[in-house]
Amino acid sequence: MIGEIIDVTTFLDGSGALSVLECDQGLPFIVRRVYYIYGVEEGAVRGAHAHQSSEQIIVCVAGHCRVTLNNGFELQTVNLDTRDKALYINSCVWREIEFSTEDAILLVLADKKYSEKECIRDYDEFLHFVGVL
Ligand code: TYD
Repeated sequence: MIGEIIDVTTFLDGSGALSVLECDQGLPFIVRRVYYIYGVEEGAVRGAHAHQSSEQIIVCVAGHCRVTLNNGFELQTVNLDTRDKALYINSCVWREIEFSTEDAILLVLADKKYSEKECIRDYDEFLHFVGVL
């Protein structure tokens, strides 16, 4: 397994659901950045990069996304279509995220502020980085 599925504590009552990720209770790091991606055409793929040092947790808070993780040696595909599951992605993992439905909204929690420098966007460079090439 490359990514880790995290059960998000969810409180259900007569008026809907509340899901929570809290430090040391599902969240393995201190969150320094939050962003969300939406309005992506059905079937389009985003991502296609890896982070040298940043860890992330992603939650598909609406719709359905299909995530492919690649550590240079093996692949893992994860369907994210429920609000009570999150996916932890460590650094040095190439990720491609298909927005399988038009209404998909992907919430991303990261342990670091944004840095383009630590982002690897070239696949061969990634394979070098993880020691495959
Ligand atoms: P990008 O990483 O290419 O998105 P994706 O991998 O989902 O296709 O980011 C798109 C743009 O947003 C790019 O110009 C960088 C910018 N950006 C920030 O400025 N801060 C951030 O935290 C993120 C994630 C992206």
